[in-house]
Order: sequence, then structure tokens, then C-alpha cells
Amino acid sequence: MSNLPAYFSAEIMPQLPLILAVESSCDDTGVAIIRGNEVLANVISNQTIHENYGGVVPELASRAHAQNIVPTLAEALKQAKVEAGELSAVAYTRGPGLMGSLHVGVAFAKSWAWANGIPAIPVNHMQAHVLAHFLGPNSGPNFPFLCLTVSGGHTQLVKVASALEMEVLGETRDDAAGEAFDKVAKLMGLAYPGGPVLDRLAQNGDPDKFHFSKPRVSGLDMSFSGLKTQIWQFLQHGQQQDSEFIAVNQSDIAASVQDSIVGVLMEKLENAVNATGITEVAIAGGVSANSGLRQSLFSTAERLGWIVHVPPFEYCTDNAAMVAIAGLKLYDAGQVFPLDIEPIPRLKLG
Ligand code: KG4
Ligand code: ZN
Repeated sequence: MSNLPAYFSAEIMPQLPLILAVESSCDDTGVAIIRGNEVLANVISNQTIHENYGGVVPELASRAHAQNIVPTLAEALKQAKVEAGELSAVAYTRGPGLMGSLHVGVAFAKSWAWANGIPAIPVNHMQAHVLAHFLGPNSGPNFPFLCLTVSGGHTQLVKVASALEMEVLGETRDDAAGEAFDKVAKLMGLAYPGGPVLDRLAQNGDPDKFHFSKPRVSGLDMSFSGLKTQIWQFLQHGQQQDSEFIAVNQSDIAASVQDSIVGVLMEKLENAVNATGITEVAIAGGVSANSGLRQSLFSTAERLGWIVHVPPFEYCTDNAAMVAIAGLKLYDAGQVFPLDIEPIPRLKLG
């Protein structure tokens, strides 16, 4: 700005779009505000009630969204120091996700946009996970790139031709990678969500202590339910031999399980690079916070000469800033959406 002529005042310079976004696909209520790709606020109300049940209870999640959504939005406006009248558009997660949870966010975001006379922009949650890479000062990966999106509900290998053109090259045929982490952690008696707990334990464990056979799935698709059953049988057998088996071997079990899950993901990612010839690679979604996956990605990148992108921790797990940047890409493309759009719990990518 400093070398612009003095008559270029802030009032006549074109303003970057100001997007407010609502995320309510699962158990986190999120509201974010971005100006261009700069995050002004990214507020998340985590629902701790599900910890008592060892998993998300859909009915309780919808109720908690209904309770949290207005205070979360008020906090986001306060943190961003933005008035409702300044906003350009409201983006919201249309799916995939839990029907009841999505309904709360979709109905709220559309009503709020209508009341403020601005467009409401539906966003695919999985596209948003990928586009989280374009938040903040970094320019993000170059197109085309491959993205391994790994969350609690999905595991996908995506070819990203542009912000709005994504093709799923392979995905899990049953459980998602995050679900596998969570279910094994539950079998081990660890707190929910188990992924981060298992990750912490694995850091002090030996990944070669226990071995699990890799699921055999052709092409770029994956499977984790067989691995989960195998681990369950292994834990049961161990406990029958020694009732302290899990307690005594906690860290080694965690490290070995993490190594197996990460091994499947990395093998498929390497296959996708070989199949497409694309060596610019990103990871996204809750499981992209996993330290084992990050380490394995960095070492493979060094060995094979890939360029890799890992999102900051706050944009790995569900958040509304990623929905805002996806909304911005649609807003910039001039897309217009009606106000009678409904949530789609199994919304496909691409
Ligand atoms: O993307 P996300 O927040 O929500 C969905 O869209 O599903 O992902 C949540 C998943 C959970 O399964 C959680 O256990 C897992 O991400 N997760 C992790 C880690 N942090 C979150 N899994 C392994 N290691 C982590 N550090
Ligand atoms: Zn997610």
C-alpha cells in the first residue's frame, strides 16, 4: 500500500470479500469470518457431552448445535470486530455429515443471510477440508495436486485440478481412518475421541512390537474394518492371557496400530502419485494432525522428491474457517444459490 498514490484511500480501494461461515456437520459448532484468505475469527464450540458415550450421539449433537450456534456467531463477530452489515456472504456446510446437525447449521445460515440481504453459499465439507490449505498468508499448493483427506467419517485420495474441480481417485470401502483410530482406542479403554490420545501414547511406544497384516484392496481404494477386527481379536487374546496386557503394553500397542493405519494410507498415496505423475501432495482432515502420518509423509517426500503440504493444526479438525475459504472460492466464481437448498448427509465430492 505504501507505494500507492495518496488518492488511493481505503474507501475507494476494492475491498476483499468478507465471508462468514457456519460449520455444523458433526459435533463441533463452528463460526468463522475471513477477509480474503485472512482469518479474522475461527470460533469452535466443542461438544463435550459425547465423551460420556464414547462416540457422537446424533440427537444430542443437533440439540447442542441449536444451543451453541447463536453465541458462537456472536463471539465470532466480536473477535473479528465486524458488523453484520459489512459481510459479503454467508457460507455453510451442506454435507456430508449428520442430518440433524447439518439441518441446524443450514437453516440458521440461510435465515441469517436472508435477514441481512446477502447470498448464502452451500459448501461441501470434504472440499472445505482440502481448501483449508489456502487459508492464511501462504498461497497454498500449486494445481494440480493430490490430497489425502483423512477424517472421522471419510478417507479419500483426491486429485485437485483447481479449487472447484476435485476428483476422488480412491476412498475407503468401509471405516474411515479416524474411525479406525477411535474404535481401537475405545477397545483399549481410552477416552473419546481416541485418535489424539492414541497419537500421544504412540510417541513413547515401539511401532515394531506388534504386527498386523495389511488389508488387501485393489486400486486406490482402502479398507480399515478388517484391520479393526484383527486388532480387536489381538487385544482379546492378549487380555485372556494376562488381564493387564493392554495396560502394560499401551504405548507399544498404540504405536503399532498407528504404524499400521499410517502404512495403509502412505502406500495408497504413493500409488496415487505413481498413477497420476503428480508429486505435489497435501494431507487434510482430523487425522492429518497425526504425528506418525506427518513424519511418514515428510520422510517419503524426502526419499521421492515430493513437495508436501501439511495444514496448521487448527485447520485439520473440523472448523468453520475452511468452510469460509471454500465459500469464498464459490463467491469469487460468481455462483448464485437458491435459498431452498437442503442438507445432503451423503453429499459426494466432485
Ligand atoms: O475432520 P474431523 O475433525 O471430523 C470429521 O470430519 O470427521 O476428524 C475427526 C477425526 C477423529 O476420528 C479423531 O480421532 C481424528 O480425526 N484425529 C486424529 C488426531 N487428531 C484428530 N487421529 C489420529 N491422530 C490425531 N492426532
Ligand atoms: Zn471434517
